[in-house]
Amino acid sequence: MEAKSKILLIDDEEVVLDSCTQILAGGPYQVATASDGTAGLRLVQEFQPDLVFVDLKMPGISGFDVMEKVHTMDPTIVMVVITGFATISSAVDAMKRGAYDFLPKPFTPEEFRLITCRSLEKRKLVLETIALRQEKEMLREHFAHIVSHELKAPLSAVQQSLFALEFELSKTLSESQKEKLERAKIRIDDLIKLINSWLRVISVDINKLKEGFTQISVKDEISKALDNLELYAVRKDIEIVTSIGDVLHPVIGDGLSLSEAFVNIIGNAIKYSHDGSRIVVNAKENGTDVVISIQDNGVGISEEDLPHIFDGFYRGKSGQAMATGHGIGLAVSRQIIEAHNGSIVVESELGKGTTFTVRLPKWSNQP
Ligand SMILES: Nc1ncnc2c1ncn2[C@@H]1O[C@H](COP(=O)(O)OP(=O)(O)OP(=O)(O)O)[C@@H](O)[C@H]1O
Ligand SMILES: [Mg+2]
Repeated sequence: MEAKSKILLIDDEEVVLDSCTQILAGGPYQVATASDGTAGLRLVQEFQPDLVFVDLKMPGISGFDVMEKVHTMDPTIVMVVITGFATISSAVDAMKRGAYDFLPKPFTPEEFRLITCRSLEKRKLVLETIALRQEKEMLREHFAHIVSHELKAPLSAVQQSLFALEFELSKTLSESQKEKLERAKIRIDDLIKLINSWLRVISVDINKLKEGFTQISVKDEISKALDNLELYAVRKDIEIVTSIGDVLHPVIGDGLSLSEAFVNIIGNAIKYSHDGSRIVVNAKENGTDVVISIQDNGVGISEEDLPHIFDGFYRGKSGQAMATGHGIGLAVSRQIIEAHNGSIVVESELGKGTTFTVRLPKWSNQP
């Protein structure tokens, strides 16, 4: 048998409480009543209603204040305002304070029944959405667990065995055997890197990022990223020109993650640029933000690919034709930047080049 929906009526007029209780009698409801705000709020805790009808004008705590308190106690409870002085502005006020609907007095039993059904339907939807979100979170955790324990751990063990085998047989292996072993090691190393990227995409670590936020110098993180990419740029004979303000304001964040994002974005600029070209990395302050732009004259991105490049595992056509990749770098970078309350946007023209612009809020003393 389905559980009965719990409805709480808060009104100082005895006649309203009685008539509403009668209208609901015999339906699949459990009804509780209170004749003032204080008693009503106590019942919200004890009775844990799905739906609360509140009269706006009551002696003692006003209906508006009751609504605000109910909303803080449990924001999933659906609230409907009943009032004798229905005006547009009081309706708007009630909605602002979290009311789902508005019922002007006098109302017919049919009107009351209808609004009750609609509000309980709303409550059901709210609870279903919460349950779905929880389920999604559980699936994400479960998937992360499988990826890291069932895939990554055994692969790391295989990698370890290959290292040991290579060491033990180093003197006896022929050149072609060494080559095969080397290829196996590279493939496994690639797979482990891919798994690590997956784990980043499903935000296993990113959710915890904020706990370790400190003051970060954008200039330092960009420098680290450039050091990391130096060899790659040299190999493609690409010049990276930087223009970074000396007195750039710090930002609040996680240095390792931010430099990971810069490595991804500047790494893309190198990857999708032609040999011998130039990349410009610029960082300056703009209002309350530090703004970093990375501009290249590479293959560019088509208009139809552009809206999707931050999606996980998406690769643009021009990019695919130019180099290999997994389509993960930008998805991870965006998650990192958004975890810093920042933003990343892209402008690009096919065959001409691409500019990524990252905005990070400046660090401030204010909480
Ligand atoms: N600077 C750029 N110039 C041209 N295309 C780019 C640029 N940066 C990104 N792209 C396009 O966006 C796609 C997604 O980029 P992303 O970095 O997420 O993945 P990837 O580079 O393909 O692989 P990886 O996961 O190894 O980084 C790329 O495949 C490419 O098509
Ligand atoms: Mg990339």
